[in-house]
Amino acid sequence: MHPIGAAVEFLPEGCIFRLTQNCIPGGIRVSTFAVAPEGIANRTNESVAREARGGLTATPKTLSPWLFYDQVGSHLFEEITELPEYYLTRTERGIFAAHAEEILREAAIAHGPHPPGKLTLIELGAGTATKTGILLAEAVRQQGDIVYQPVDVSETALAEATENILTNIPGVTVRCQVADYTREGLPLDRLRNTRTLALYIGSSIGNFTPAGAKEVLRNLRAQLLPGDKLLLGTDLAPNGNGGHKTEAILLAAYDDAAGTTAAFNLNVLTRLNRDLGANFDTENFRHKVIWSPSESRIEMHLESLVAQRVTIPANGIGGALKVRFAAGETIHTENSYKFTPATVEALLASADFSATKSWQDPRHLFAVTLATAV
Ligand code: TRP
Repeated sequence: MHPIGAAVEFLPEGCIFRLTQNCIPGGIRVSTFAVAPEGIANRTNESVAREARGGLTATPKTLSPWLFYDQVGSHLFEEITELPEYYLTRTERGIFAAHAEEILREAAIAHGPHPPGKLTLIELGAGTATKTGILLAEAVRQQGDIVYQPVDVSETALAEATENILTNIPGVTVRCQVADYTREGLPLDRLRNTRTLALYIGSSIGNFTPAGAKEVLRNLRAQLLPGDKLLLGTDLAPNGNGGHKTEAILLAAYDDAAGTTAAFNLNVLTRLNRDLGANFDTENFRHKVIWSPSESRIEMHLESLVAQRVTIPANGIGGALKVRFAAGETIHTENSYKFTPATVEALLASADFSATKSWQDPRHLFAVTLATAV
């Protein structure tokens, strides 16, 4: 069952939500629509097969993070964001709650005559947009109304975001867009005669290598005009900022006591079993988290506990694949880079954004930086 129930109709064209007025409490007027690149939400088994073959025959072995997000994985990820150890989500939300007014006022300051008009909010990887509501409500307070354009690979997440926002924040028009900004050029449907505030939060930028992060921001910048803004959320590196944040705090966020992040990581193997008929025994692997000071990143791995051989049956991509693991060998599944104010500024500058102002929580765990497209 999709999360909106009767309020939304999924049309055959793809990500087009038609929200019927009388289904929404308060009778909010809605116009919605969206662009629908075909079938991004569910990767075909063929792309899973290609990814598995490429990653598991490489040295060292890797699997791409997008494999995490099947139905079970997406659910586990939502759980991660609520874990006591996973401070990122609630800390960023706290920064928004404490500073929304100032963030929006700064973002609304025009730099030069163009582009004119009200702010439009565009969010990359919006998901269910639970944190964004704080900023949207403040934007409505400041400018009367706002158009919000969430972009995500998950149609169901966008449907949930749309419903939450339309139900709870009058004055917002939602235009959702199903797209994968990491794999295609970002097809931003930029509104004319408005200024854009792009949101890229949750430290999602940290899941790219430095080169990849620069490319994502350059792609975004290419869709913006000088004077448009970007609000970037970044998790901070430990041992800086007067030593508030320790490596232990950081490691626990990715290796929680309840084992949710471990389950999230191991679910990749379960997915390969399901989608490709592989025979991974998840009991023979463990979730392993490493802090790499030299790369300033958290690494997530799946470590083989024994010497073993796993088979992926023949498929459209190639013949049967036998994958050998030595005891202690790992599959590298994810990186989460951690920043300092200086590395955030340098990254922004490399994509032609100039950092304007930055906010941190009182413990200096996380930073939210406003930048202007130059
Ligand atoms: N970008 C967030 C982070 O790096 C969320 C995230 C992405 C994440 N992939 C993850 C969290 C894997 C835990 C595990 O923390």
